[in-house]
Amino acid sequence: MKVVITGGAGFVGRRLARALGARGELTGPDGTRQAIDEIVLFDAVVPDGTLSEAPDATVVQGDLGDPASVAAVIDRPDIGIFHLGAMVSGGCEEDFDGAWRANVEGTRNVLEAARAVGSAPRLVFTSTMGAFGGDHVRAPVGDFTKQSPQTTYGVSKSIGELLVNDYARKGFVDARAARLATVIVRAGKPNMALSSYASAVIREPLAGIDYVCPVPAETNMPMIGYETCVGCLIAMAELDGDAIGPDRTVNVPGLSASVTDMLEALQRVAGDRSLGKVTIDADPRVAKVTSGWPQETDNRRSAQLGLPKDHNVDTIIETYIRDYVDA
Ligand SMILES: NC(=O)c1ccc[n+]([C@@H]2O[C@H](COP(=O)([O-])OP(=O)(O)OC[C@H]3O[C@@H](n4cnc5c(N)ncnc54)[C@H](O)[C@@H]3O)[C@@H](O)[C@H]2O)c1
Repeated sequence: MKVVITGGAGFVGRRLARALGARGELTGPDGTRQAIDEIVLFDAVVPDGTLSEAPDATVVQGDLGDPASVAAVIDRPDIGIFHLGAMVSGGCEEDFDGAWRANVEGTRNVLEAARAVGSAPRLVFTSTMGAFGGDHVRAPVGDFTKQSPQTTYGVSKSIGELLVNDYARKGFVDARAARLATVIVRAGKPNMALSSYASAVIREPLAGIDYVCPVPAETNMPMIGYETCVGCLIAMAELDGDAIGPDRTVNVPGLSASVTDMLEALQRVAGDRSLGKVTIDADPRVAKVTSGWPQETDNRRSAQLGLPKDHNVDTIIETYIRDYVDA
């Protein structure tokens, strides 16, 4: 089978491509396991040189907002699709029209292309905890907590979740969605996500760089390590559709941690490494948005479905050091 990862040149896409390349197989549209013969990363941006995380994948440049470009890669019935391509939170706040094109029209274009191959292929869409907002996030958010997103990004992802439900209900696409907690530790450069501080407070000190954190130290957010996140996306692709039921979105299991928790974990794990210094200087724009996001997830449904989960931040940092600092 072929696997297409939209937004595949992004951070999670690369990690996913790497894991799928190593695995070599995935549950196909007919529910049986099939060997993967091609991995295509569809992205607006083509990185210079090869993708070190996913050397066997092919990168195809294209815009999710252009239906023909999307259909050109989602082009055979034995296909699995991971739809990760998106404008993220900070970008959506700055560019309302671009958010609509990439995230709403783009998601519809991907679902339409998947429908057109005629085999009701499996598709995993990545949504966000930003689909929740306002007073509903004061208690731990479960899969069926009312969504009341307070950002354009959250609204666009919520629309994507509803599209996923309806394409699945109609039998067009065996679609599912994973509502991701903040994925840490993001390697390389930050993207436009307003949650990017959660990676930076670990990544920059480990690189010996001082970092000014834009949210108060007590800011709490559900997080997930990238290895666990990729495990959840693959598990979501392989789950029996009946186990998910008609509401196709599952919260991935988040691990709630504050900036203070993360800095303490970094101290424990870093040993005698010399670390850059983190200071707090809250940026009202970032703090306003992040304070409206969930602080904790109710992980009962993901546990019932058997999704992997992180046990502590220390292990997440150790994984990052293994893969990106010491490698
Ligand atoms: N990383 C997180 O903490 C997090 C949390 C919640 C949800 N998510 C979701 O998970 C997915 C992957 O996140 P990520 O951290 O890898 O993000 P990322 O920014 O690293 O990657 C997203 C990719 O999408 C591409 N893209 C954007 N607009 C496009 C367009 N119009 N056409 C084609 N490609 C386009 C970008 O070039 C980028 O490479 C996204 O959908 C994001 O919304 C991520």
